[in-house]
Amino acid sequence: MPMNFAGRFSDRAAVITGGASGIGLAVAQRIVEEGGRVSVWDRDPAQIEQAKVVIPGLHGVAVDVADAAGVENAAARAIEALGGVDILVTSAAITGPNMTTWNYRVEDWQKVIDININGVFYCNKALVPHMLERNYGRIVNIASIAGKEGNPNASAYSTSKAAVIGLTKSLGKELAKTKVTVNCVTPAAVRTAIFKQMSQEHIDFMLSKIPMARFGEVEEVAALICWIASEECSFTTAAVFDVSGGRATY
Ligand SMILES: NC(=O)c1ccc[n+]([C@@H]2O[C@H](COP(=O)([O-])OP(=O)(O)OC[C@H]3O[C@@H](n4cnc5c(N)ncnc54)[C@H](O)[C@@H]3O)[C@@H](O)[C@H]2O)c1
Repeated sequence: MPMNFAGRFSDRAAVITGGASGIGLAVAQRIVEEGGRVSVWDRDPAQIEQAKVVIPGLHGVAVDVADAAGVENAAARAIEALGGVDILVTSAAITGPNMTTWNYRVEDWQKVIDININGVFYCNKALVPHMLERNYGRIVNIASIAGKEGNPNASAYSTSKAAVIGLTKSLGKELAKTKVTVNCVTPAAVRTAIFKQMSQEHIDFMLSKIPMARFGEVEEVAALICWIASEECSFTTAAVFDVSGGRATY
């Protein structure tokens, strides 16, 4: 059961990419429950509509985060709808197929890189100037333990998540003297719709690497993200937070 932090996000507004499903949706739900306003950016309009049923008052923008102009437009729409944006959580990502690197199709590789790296860059880039103007911001990029360790048969995904860690560290340092913090989380496997994109062999491999011998729950990841996205997390930036059931060793 989540602890009760009623009002933690009063007067705060968040953009959550990929917020119509899985971890992003759990974060959206918790921020709204704790008094915040949320705009989810997702490429799947039907899922946005479903999320609006679960979370009354949710704002949604159908956008592909790999489209830089589309992201700029989404930022303008969210800022107008929410009256400003204080928090950005980048959850939108795909896994790409599970296969060895030398068998990877170039188109598949590029798609993973476009969404998982460039998409995170476009969203961070679109909202940082706005946060600087407001003199407040919390950015939480979702990377993965795969980005630290490199999962076999998932090199595009692992590479993209390592890049998210690098981007978070660079941007966090650039903004360190401001009131905008930038951090990332590196979850191990959490059963969500993203599992449909992976082979059963790969899912079994990920579970075998978790000392707690279970998958994480979206609420467990959302709890950590929401703390990092809160005002209380004020002396940490350019950092990487693990939520991996004991898998992470550094
Ligand atoms: N579930 C896990 O095991 C796990 C582990 C580590 C890290 N992560 C990361 O957590 C984040 C969320 O994953 P999830 O498990 O909730 O997945 P999910 O598939 O349930 O949700 C991802 C959402 O992103 C959206 N999306 C995908 N591509 C998009 C695009 N180009 N533009 C806009 N929206 C797009 C999808 O429509 C979906 O709603 C991802 O960054 C993922 O890499 C997940």
